[in-house]
Amino acid sequence: MNAPILQFVWHGEIVTLPNVPPTRTLLQLLREDLGHSATKEGCNEGDCGACTVVLAEQKGGT
Ligand code: FES
Repeated sequence: MNAPILQFVWHGEIVTLPNVPPTRTLLQLLREDLGHSATKEGCNEGDCGACTVVLAEQKGGT
């Protein structure tokens, strides 16, 4: 079984994070692991939509 990898585009750059624990939130990754402390938590209850993540495949890329 392959190690879980999280890959996303952040400010136009592809960020690849290997071995991401399934319980780690994107907010924790951005703030605590990558140091992007300007990223803030919204309501933390599923009401405001601030934590919405768009999932897509990059056309012709990795
Ligand atoms: S933080 Fe408000 S919906 Fe996720």
